[in-house]
Amino acid sequence: MVTIVVGGHFGDEGKGKVISYLALEDKPDIIARAGVGPNAGHTIFKDGIEYGLRMIPCGFVNEGSRLMVGAGVLVDPDCFIEEVKMTGSAGRIFLDKRCAIIEKKHKEEDAGDDFLRQNIGTTGSGCGPANAERAHRTAKLAEDIPKLKEYLIDVPSEVNYAIDSGKAVLLEASQGFGLSLFYGTYPYVTSKDTSASMAAVDIGIGPTRVTEVIVVYKAYTTRVGEGPHNTLITDDNINKYPLWQEILKDAEKNGVTGDNVNDILAKYLNEKGTVTCRQRWIGDFDYELGSYSAKVNGATQICITCLDKLFPECNKIKEYDKLSDRAREHIKKIEKETGVAATLLSTGPNPEDMVDLRK
Ligand code: GTP
Ligand code: IMP
Ligand code: MG
Repeated sequence: MVTIVVGGHFGDEGKGKVISYLALEDKPDIIARAGVGPNAGHTIFKDGIEYGLRMIPCGFVNEGSRLMVGAGVLVDPDCFIEEVKMTGSAGRIFLDKRCAIIEKKHKEEDAGDDFLRQNIGTTGSGCGPANAERAHRTAKLAEDIPKLKEYLIDVPSEVNYAIDSGKAVLLEASQGFGLSLFYGTYPYVTSKDTSASMAAVDIGIGPTRVTEVIVVYKAYTTRVGEGPHNTLITDDNINKYPLWQEILKDAEKNGVTGDNVNDILAKYLNEKGTVTCRQRWIGDFDYELGSYSAKVNGATQICITCLDKLFPECNKIKEYDKLSDRAREHIKKIEKETGVAATLLSTGPNPEDMVDLRK
């Protein structure tokens, strides 16, 4: 049984939180990280402690799972080793020997290049330049780096063997559909495709092996960096959105101030990036992008996170019937537009804050 968790909008949908829940609930044999590389920042909580992870699978929270990073994922060796230590996952974490390596020069180029940093608004983590070098076939691989030797394995062999043995495998993608190099808002995208099919490629399994694709959306749509955001909330259009007006009022009541309504909403909803600390742009749920991404990802289920931020009365609720009417209406509208059943509803940042309708 293989489950892929993938982002349905512009990244930061809360995939890390969802994976932390599935890791503890489903106890997969293998949890493998797919996606671009350390440009991702997943925030998760384990025993009340907050972790900002860029390389290690968020599924580390389940101590019984083996953790792997697939060959498609770029590896920053220092970042990887630091996270292995921080999470205490040595002995059960492995890298594919063919992961391409991010070097200092890639980070310098990413952070210093006007086009990448200013126009595209990259994370500066070196991913774009490293992927360019990989395509140029001059990038170093994990097997070329002595300090990574102890972690190296052949990930496809392990994962396919686990599947053949009837074990559960969870694949963590990163970023989101709107950032796909092929299907996103080019050129304001990342350096690789970000869809579920790519996650399978990253780990080395064929499409016939995938059982479930869970596309994750935040209850509203955020984006960080440059590029179009079709449902952006602005000073000019907020009067069309009664719910956003209500949230703005709550923010102001709580003393939050800012340059414009989007700034105030982002501060109030604590929408700040894990890697770059940049503020995220706040938008209403983007149904058009959401439904297109459900289709191209081949979603079999969808997950909606941060319901408690839009509907504070839903904070930490675990039963569907206890969600408020307006929250349930929002969920139904997303299901109708995407044509896919919402099976996981996240009501807080901790792993246990989840309504699970899968069974
Ligand atoms: P990328 O791989 O970078 O795309 O990130 P991600 O999808 O793992 O999301 P990220 O952790 O960057 O951002 C989501 C933020 O929302 C984090 O701060 C989470 O702790 C938080 N979060 C996730 N789900 C919920 C939820 O249901 N409620 C609340 N209040 N916070 C949530
Ligand atoms: P890069 O991936 O660092 O090259 O950045 C390209 C674009 O993707 C920029 O707009 C980034 O803000 C965005 N991006 C990359 N990774 C993430 C992520 O994990 N979450 C949200 N946005 C991301
Ligand atoms: Mg993130």
